[in-house]
Amino acid sequence: MPETEASRVAGYAPPRHVAIIMDGNGRWAAARGLPRGEGHRRGVEALRRTVRAAGDLGIKYLTIFSFSAENWSRPASEIGELMGLLRRFIRNDLAELHRSNVRVRIIGERQGLEPDIARLLIEAEDLTKGNDGLILIVAFNYGARQEITRAARRISERVLAGALAVDDITMETVVDCLDAPDVPDPDLIIRTSGEQRLSNFLLWQAAYSELVFVPSYWPDFDRAALEAAIDEYRQRERRFGGLIAKTGS
Ligand code: FPP
Repeated sequence: MPETEASRVAGYAPPRHVAIIMDGNGRWAAARGLPRGEGHRRGVEALRRTVRAAGDLGIKYLTIFSFSAENWSRPASEIGELMGLLRRFIRNDLAELHRSNVRVRIIGERQGLEPDIARLLIEAEDLTKGNDGLILIVAFNYGARQEITRAARRISERVLAGALAVDDITMETVVDCLDAPDVPDPDLIIRTSGEQRLSNFLLWQAAYSELVFVPSYWPDFDRAALEAAIDEYRQRERRFGGLIAKTGS
């Protein structure tokens, strides 16, 4: 029987690709009378735990929503804190990620970023590009509608250059023009903090993803929470539009 996307996940223990909307840092801090920045700092600790756990659990791709294209509308002081955390995360954690055989990839708009941030992103990708362990995809300055718009521009350029006929544009052409064309769609998308929406995250890639919404705030997320979300994923039937029920376990 030829392998289909559905037969691939049937009997496959861990989801191949998990994507996470790390939400609730601010509310975590507010609930404790702490500044929002403290919530973000604790969010970075949760991220470290989660990257380790994902590797241990045999997940191949982990995508994290670290800064959305819409986050620029936050107060300048909070944006400054988030940029500072990213700088520190790359400076302090990159060597450890590299030692752990993690490959870092970045999706999102690079144009307009502060030059040192843009350089750090390139450094993280370059240093780890030969690693074949967990692939950590950091969605930074990322919005899915913006990503799809970028893809539309790239396709138009190919058409205008005479390299592509309009009738030859397929779904594969679109995928090929997304930010990480070779990365398979997420099997499981987790959002913390109880909010139940995608907020412009991976809209194209999420077409058949299972969504798991976790009530706790991101700074409290840990290995047990990841395992619980994966257990819930395994209960789901994934049919990919077909008729035969397939589960993720
Ligand atoms: C959502 O919490 C989280 C973010 C906007 C950013 C996520 C960032 C981190 C986990 C730390 C930074 C990590 C890197 C690698 C840069 P929120 O502020 O929206 O919380 P709220 O909805 O409770 O206000």
